[in-house]
Amino acid sequence: MAQESFFDPEMPDIISQWRYYLNCLQIRDGLSVLDVGCNQGDTERLILQDYPRIGRLVALDKDPRRVQAARRCLQKHADGLGWEVVEGDAQNLPFADDTFDRIVCAETLEWVPDSVQAAAEMRRVLKPGGLALLQHSDFDTQVYTTPRLDLLRQFVHGFTDSGPDGVIGRKLMGIAQSVGFAEVASSVYVLINTEFAEPWYAAKVFAMMKDWLLRKELMAPEGIAALEISIQETARDGSFFYSVNRNLCLCRK
Ligand SMILES: C[S@@+](CC[C@H](N)C(=O)[O-])C[C@H]1O[C@@H](n2cnc3c(N)ncnc32)[C@H](O)[C@@H]1O
Repeated sequence: MAQESFFDPEMPDIISQWRYYLNCLQIRDGLSVLDVGCNQGDTERLILQDYPRIGRLVALDKDPRRVQAARRCLQKHADGLGWEVVEGDAQNLPFADDTFDRIVCAETLEWVPDSVQAAAEMRRVLKPGGLALLQHSDFDTQVYTTPRLDLLRQFVHGFTDSGPDGVIGRKLMGIAQSVGFAEVASSVYVLINTEFAEPWYAAKVFAMMKDWLLRKELMAPEGIAALEISIQETARDGSFFYSVNRNLCLCRK
C-alpha cells in the first residue's frame, strides 16, 4: 500500500524495488506475463519501458475503476506496445490452463478473501516450468527511528491489525506450498529509507497509515502528532531510518 502509484511523482525506491522483483521473475523477450492485481497500471508501464520486446502482457484487476485507470495509463505511456487490461477475480482467473510464462502478484493477496484459491488459480494458468512471483509486505515489520517506541508500536500494530491481513507476508510461503508448485523459494526484500520526506516510501506510507488510523479512530490524534514530530526530529538530526520487509515467493510449476 502507498506504492501503487510510483511514477507521478517518481518514487526511486519503489522503482528499484520493482526492478528487483522483475529480475527475480526472469522476464525475457517473447515471454507472456500476467500481473494479478494491477491497480492503475504503473507496474505495466515499468515492464513495457524495461522489456519492450515482451511477448504478451496482461494486467488483471477486480475493480472496474482501476481497470479503466490502467487502460488510460497505458494508452498514454505505452501505446502500441501490446498490452491488455482485463477485469477479473484472482480467485477465478479468466484464462485457460497453462497460458502464461510468468505471473506476478504484488501487494494483492491481503485483499483476496481466499488467498489459497488465488494461488491455486495462478498455478493453473502458469505454463509447466513457468515462474510465478507472489509478493506481499508484512506490515508488522515496519521500523522507524524514534524515542517514542510506545507510540510507534501502537501506530504500527494498530495499522497491521486493522487491515484484512497485515501479516500475510510471513504466510506466503505456506500458501504457495499448499497449492502444489514444484519449487517454492522464499526470500525477503528489505526496503530501506534514510529520508522522511516525499517522494520516499517511508513518508508516503506514514501519511497513509495516519489517515487510516484517524479515520477508524484507532489512535488518538495527539499520539500520532507526537510520534510524527519525534520522527521528524530524527530526520533533522540525520538519524532517520525506516525499513519494511517485502516477502517474496518465487514459485516454479
Ligand atoms: C494494494 S493494490 C496493489 C497494486 C499493485 N500490484 C502494487 O503492487 O502496487 C491491490 C490491488 O488488488 C486488487 N484486487 C483486490 N482483490 C482482488 C481480486 N480478488 N482479484 C483481482 N484483483 C484484486 C485491487 O483492486 C487493487 O488494485
